[in-house]
Amino acid sequence: MTAFTQEVPPPLFAVGNAPPLPVIDFVPLLKPETKFEENLLRQPEFIKGLNWGIPRFGHPEGKVGYHIREVLDNIDLLNADPATRQRLRIAAMAHDTFKYKESESTANGKRINHGLLARRYMERHTDDGPTLDLIELHDEIYFAWRHDALHGKPKEAIKRLDQLNDRVRADLKLHYLFFRCDTLTGDKIQAPRIWFEQKMAGYGIGDIRKLAG
Ligand SMILES: [Fe+2]
Ligand SMILES: [Fe+2]
Repeated sequence: MTAFTQEVPPPLFAVGNAPPLPVIDFVPLLKPETKFEENLLRQPEFIKGLNWGIPRFGHPEGKVGYHIREVLDNIDLLNADPATRQRLRIAAMAHDTFKYKESESTANGKRINHGLLARRYMERHTDDGPTLDLIELHDEIYFAWRHDALHGKPKEAIKRLDQLNDRVRADLKLHYLFFRCDTLTGDKIQAPRIWFEQKMAGYGIGDIRKLAG
């Protein structure tokens, strides 16, 4: 009979200190076009954020990094001027990347929207107001649509859109373009985008779909 007397080396990783899962380097997939974009994607917060997510409704691709690739592809389809394109790309890279932090804040009982978390982080790296507002307020259109379509409160929906318009004014078109590029991804429902396109006439923008070029 074998006695278990041989010494066993101590475990490499104590309980609660498991080895990190393989981390995907999203830089080759996301193809940064500037040093600023590349440096951003190499920050620890971005590496963690891009690797966050599992396949779910609206996001069969799972990880945030794959979703961003889809958004960037949609931005490429736009007929956007260089400044608009740069703002859209930076917002695409930053907005969803802080979902991991939102989920941490939820676990701590104080949920903070990922857009706001992303804005706070990005304020360290840029002072471009339209980009920061885009990063922070991107989900406002979706939240407004929910008031109307899911809760039967169209006045609340318009009030929320008015608040967004008051805050971003001349940049509402920029918000539409980003909303469009973000919504035409994964298996997201298109009802919020179509609803917003119809409401935009009320802000004197006319047929907003033509902006998509
Ligand atoms: Fe979002
Ligand atoms: Fe997104």
